[in-house]
Amino acid sequence: KPKFKGKDFIQLSDFSTDEILYLLNEAIEMKKLQKQGKPHPYLSGKVLGMIFEKSSTRTRVSFEVGMLQLGGHAIFLSSKDIQLGRGESISDTAKVLSRYVDGLMIRTFSHDSVEELAEHATVPVINGLTDLQHPTQVLADLLTILEHKGKLSGLKMCYIGDGNNNMTHSLMEGAMKVGMDISIASPPGYLPNGNITEKAIKVGKQTGCALLITNDPLEAVKGADVIVTDVWTSMGQEDETEKRLKAFQGFQVNDELCKLAKEDFIFLHCLPAHRGEEVTAEVIDGSHSVVFDEAENRLHAQKAILKLLLAK
Ligand code: CP
Ligand code: NVA
Repeated sequence: KPKFKGKDFIQLSDFSTDEILYLLNEAIEMKKLQKQGKPHPYLSGKVLGMIFEKSSTRTRVSFEVGMLQLGGHAIFLSSKDIQLGRGESISDTAKVLSRYVDGLMIRTFSHDSVEELAEHATVPVINGLTDLQHPTQVLADLLTILEHKGKLSGLKMCYIGDGNNNMTHSLMEGAMKVGMDISIASPPGYLPNGNITEKAIKVGKQTGCALLITNDPLEAVKGADVIVTDVWTSMGQEDETEKRLKAFQGFQVNDELCKLAKEDFIFLHCLPAHRGEEVTAEVIDGSHSVVFDEAENRLHAQKAILKLLLAK
């Protein structure tokens, strides 16, 4: 039985295949308990501090509701309001908050900030999105795929769009760990981070699956069981919106592209989405889309993380 107590949750590459599958099983259990209306106060009296340096709808609400359902409490800490935003150091913030709360979640820009927070905090730190990774989202994505496809290993995932963003990196790591092939189609200049790619390929060699990076969406989508995309302009990149709109022409997930996938493909998007840009309304609001199951699963997946990291 894998041990999670006291660990941080910063990126999926920190966890073994068995640990990820264990987390997913725990998430299924959490979902069952909640759907049956059975109380599950595993974190009674525990408090999660949630630092946000970027906007959020899903992450904030699902963590907050999750803590409440687990019998605990969550505190929303906008960097605009806490002293961190006025220049108090991450290390002092980590040390002080660790004296009050039982766990910390942070959404921020630089991935190094999360590493630094974790280094100085004496309580578990959960990454709620950085410019580089979005691991809690991908755990929910894997749960959604498992529910709809009945398995993970042996499937083919295809990601179309910005390869150099948090979602792509976490999807690459997650897919390789659970034995899914992944093909990524991005325009030149928007390919995934080199280090993360190399590490993911190594994991793929162990789990027997392939990672393909191409500039051709048609090649990437062929035979896919799961199609994923994300916004072309991520939070913090707003100045590049015009440039990106041009660069990503031809990288839209639309009905024509989806015809090349398996007939029973499912479509995922972490949301928020821009209909008419990275995906058409036909696809995201169509019968193959599971984006709202995916959004719901943030709650169940994160409750699994919270329980395993924070419970006695
Ligand atoms: N998918 C996701 O992380 O959404 P929010 O930005 O609303 O938290
Ligand atoms: N890549 C997006 C994900 C939002 C949940 C962003 O970072 O803005």
